Amino acid sequence: MTRRLATAVAAVVAMVVAGAGALAPVPGTAGAAQAAAGPCAAWMDRGKTADQRADALVAAMDLPQKLHMLTFDDPPWFLYYGTAGHVGATPELCIPDLVLSDAGSGVAGLQIATTTFPSGVAQASTWDPVLQRRLGRAIGKEAHQKGINVMLAPGMNIARTSFGGRNFEYFGEDPHLAARTAVSVIRGIQDNPVLADAKHFAVNNQETDRMTVDARVGERAMREIYLPAFEAAVKEARVGSVMCAYNRVNGPYACQNDALLTKVLRDDWGFDGFVVSDWGAVHSTARSAMAGLDLEMNAVESPLPTGGIYGAGNRFFGADHLRAALRSGALTRARLDDMVRNIVRPMFEHGLFDRPVRPGLLPFIRDVSSPAHLSLARRVAAEGTVLLKNRSALLPLDRAGGRTSAVIGWAANPVGAANATAGGGSSHGSGLPPRVVSPLQGILAQAARNGDRVVYVEGSTGLDARLAAAAADVAVVVATDGATEGSDRPDLGLRPSVCLTVFCSAIPIEQERMIEAATAANPRTVVVLDVGGPVRMPWLAKAGAVLVPWYGGLEHGNALADVLYGVREPGGRLPQTFPTAERQVPFTRAQYPGKAGRATYSEGLLVGYRWFDAKRKEPMFPFGYGLGYTRFRYSGLAVRRDGAGAVVSFRVTNTGGRAGADVPQVYVAAPAGRGEPPRQLKGFRKVRLAAGRSTQVRVRLDRRAFARWDSRRDRWAVDPGRYGVLVGPHSRDLRLRDSVRMG
Ligand code: BGC
Repeated sequence: MTRRLATAVAAVVAMVVAGAGALAPVPGTAGAAQAAAGPCAAWMDRGKTADQRADALVAAMDLPQKLHMLTFDDPPWFLYYGTAGHVGATPELCIPDLVLSDAGSGVAGLQIATTTFPSGVAQASTWDPVLQRRLGRAIGKEAHQKGINVMLAPGMNIARTSFGGRNFEYFGEDPHLAARTAVSVIRGIQDNPVLADAKHFAVNNQETDRMTVDARVGERAMREIYLPAFEAAVKEARVGSVMCAYNRVNGPYACQNDALLTKVLRDDWGFDGFVVSDWGAVHSTARSAMAGLDLEMNAVESPLPTGGIYGAGNRFFGADHLRAALRSGALTRARLDDMVRNIVRPMFEHGLFDRPVRPGLLPFIRDVSSPAHLSLARRVAAEGTVLLKNRSALLPLDRAGGRTSAVIGWAANPVGAANATAGGGSSHGSGLPPRVVSPLQGILAQAARNGDRVVYVEGSTGLDARLAAAAADVAVVVATDGATEGSDRPDLGLRPSVCLTVFCSAIPIEQERMIEAATAANPRTVVVLDVGGPVRMPWLAKAGAVLVPWYGGLEHGNALADVLYGVREPGGRLPQTFPTAERQVPFTRAQYPGKAGRATYSEGLLVGYRWFDAKRKEPMFPFGYGLGYTRFRYSGLAVRRDGAGAVVSFRVTNTGGRAGADVPQVYVAAPAGRGEPPRQLKGFRKVRLAAGRSTQVRVRLDRRAFARWDSRRDRWAVDPGRYGVLVGPHSRDLRLRDSVRMG
């Protein structure tokens, strides 16, 4: 802990020192405007296509200029305005800086004065592509204002196990939901002259041994479960960059994995952006380059110890290494040109040349958050909050006034909340200036408006929690876990941690006893779980209500108070199954975390709810589940063939007494005997309806919704037969059923 703290402080100091000399924009970036008529005219002409411009530029580059584009510049890692890495401008060619920063819940790393939005898992929980795109757009805008033009986001690995330390950054356990979320967020980021980065490619589903573990996964599970979000990112969202992962995939390291980087990514999907390595994920020069890696990134040349969360190693794409590889013939000139072209092409396509960033001390210290972004963060936080239980309609609290509420828990106070509203690691951010709205602050503000009283206790002795809850009309107990990059969760318990910048350490604060005590003392207790994934709930039967806001970002407290008081509905639906206990999904050691360096994905397609359905097991809370404050009726399902796919339509009616949103979900059940899981999510829609109103919902299913990966023929195939089409509010309540013949 001490060493990590010292590291982080040193990083901040060093960064400010490095930045101090550069108040003015760096040379080169200003050159873009005058370039159109100068020596760069051939590729600065906006009338040409990105391909034409990239070709013209590469043709004009000499070897040193090309080599320069393929690896990170000094100063590296956080010393360059708090960013994760950069490739310096080439002013004589009008090539702007390429400045890379984390990550999915906002501009993070050591950046200051940006908006921290809810984490990836909360974003996926909204099931709302329109909102996700707005969120991506806001993140991209802040990035550009900060002098950053590659956002190292979104992360889209699949939550294969509940223990995954970085699941909070990702979009849950289902490939369709992850793909839809990824496409929206990427489009939003790239609505700015900023490239998104689809990471971590691929099968990077655990933090245990993350630098070395060999994920052994069959082709069918790979194509149907682990790759679809990346595929959609490439084909639909035209993501500008893809980050290859630390781990190995079926043998080779991901960053020198020809099967992934060339066969799948380029040949099958037509990716025409660049592949960047995760930081320190490169293990070779020519082999990686020939396999499909374009740009190497690392933190290793930093003078600072990196707290163990980054990879170590050498610089493999330094000019000397690349020249030697060219000389030996292990790397071809054609491939080298391709690498450069892959980098500059998306830069042209997405406006990075035409609207270059201006990194410098001024943008570094500039506050790029805004009231509009904070209110968006508040909205996303409420829309991503999942209500799991609501006994006797305890929520929303009435607004009659005169109530005493007990707010309980370390995570509810401003210090705890600062550590409970974002997960740990590279996506965490500096947390500066400290401006998280804690649950206590949010509830105090709403209570004042409604004429309620609030008492607060920290709760960890249990006794204080019990007394405070017993004396109150309503108790709100807030607990957190401390999921972080670099390590998996040891169990599904509530273990908080404290973070200083991106470095986090566990702290011994007892929370289960607190929840037990409060729920035992007062049945009108709302348990709020600021967590990165499923947690065990031995106290569930006693709780009056349970809310999961995940890591809710800066506006967490306000959003929570909105939800408690019914100013907003909790709009979230689970993107991940909550098992009853750690061992309910019986992974062997060979499966997870792996044996002899290998994690064997022998469960195949049976990930998340697919496993629960196939094994007929009852989880604690199923995939897709979440309550609102009103009720919906589903009726009139009709399914008809439409070209190679189908159109599903049905009616949803708000039969409750207040306006609300619901997420009807469409699952497809393949004919038996084809080896597919019992049913799989293939469509959904978020509908908002006033009390008593109804709407006709139409969901189009394309051919792929019915296809499986045929490993023998190496392509998608639709088996002829009848496919079930099931519609309902979550994966275990599919009230409407019909079928359609395909193939
Ligand atoms: C993480 C990446 C991150 C990179 C740069 C790595 O440790 O795995 O997700 O983008 O660092 O900070």
